[in-house]
Amino acid sequence: MFVYVQANKTMPLSAFPEDKTATIVLHCNSGRRVNAAVPFLKEKGYINLLNAGGPAESEVFPVFGERIHKHDFETVSITQLFDGPKPQGGGSATYTYILADSKTKEAIIIDPVLEQVDRDLEVISSQGLTLTQALNTHCHADHITGTGELKKRVGGLRSAISAASGAKADVMLKEGESICWSDGRPLLRVLSTPGHTNGCVSFVCEPLGAVFTGDVLLIGGCGRTDFQEGSAADLYDSVHNKLFTLPDDTIVYPAHDYKGRLRSTIKAEKTTNPRLTKSKQEFVEIMANLNLPYPDQIDRALPANLVCGC
Ligand SMILES: [Fe+2]
Repeated sequence: MFVYVQANKTMPLSAFPEDKTATIVLHCNSGRRVNAAVPFLKEKGYINLLNAGGPAESEVFPVFGERIHKHDFETVSITQLFDGPKPQGGGSATYTYILADSKTKEAIIIDPVLEQVDRDLEVISSQGLTLTQALNTHCHADHITGTGELKKRVGGLRSAISAASGAKADVMLKEGESICWSDGRPLLRVLSTPGHTNGCVSFVCEPLGAVFTGDVLLIGGCGRTDFQEGSAADLYDSVHNKLFTLPDDTIVYPAHDYKGRLRSTIKAEKTTNPRLTKSKQEFVEIMANLNLPYPDQIDRALPANLVCGC
């Protein structure tokens, strides 16, 4: 989309989408104007701005044909990686996250995908990171986790998943527990958010004001609730009683998006999510009538993920 008006050499704000979570790629010839526009638009509330103009700060670059975005916070960076279509990717549209401590260079990965392990290790090595933990938000049905393969290739790597998932891992997570860096500093807090599966957890990152919601809360949507002990009523309660009680400006990083969006906020989902702004009864009815096809990878993914993808 081009919003530049040649006639008067301006870019009217009215041409920008009203949806502040929309992904906007900013580009100009040298990168100078983009570097000015990004903070300006951030100020206006847009949260998915991709700087494609200046090589020094570019957040858009191709790696193995996949999408990779780096979000830098003061003490921690988040690299958001997308599992694109086959044959280069696994075709699951999963977002994997690599969280890295800026000082110690220690890294934690969330929801790795088996077909993307080479890519993930390449990113980890290119950023000079040491991977110590692999977390899964739940026992996935749409892809095999990369956790088992990563454990084979990274010495000392510890895996974690919720105790309620019934899957195997080195660490079984429970509500309220902290996930810490090796030196003991807490990074994430485990929030039990069942509904998509009964073992789903979200990871709240208080230092960053962010939450990794897995398949419970997606951007303008939510995960399906028709298999793996899924429950629409439980999902509604998890979102309304737990996720929606986080501060409004908390950034939401989901496990999937099918429209190229990167992240949302609790406020945006609270006010605009077409399903979760409904009453609980209406939501349960919507979820009961989705008539979704049987997931094509579930028969191979579930048994593998119950043993950590080994
Ligand atoms: Fe899932």
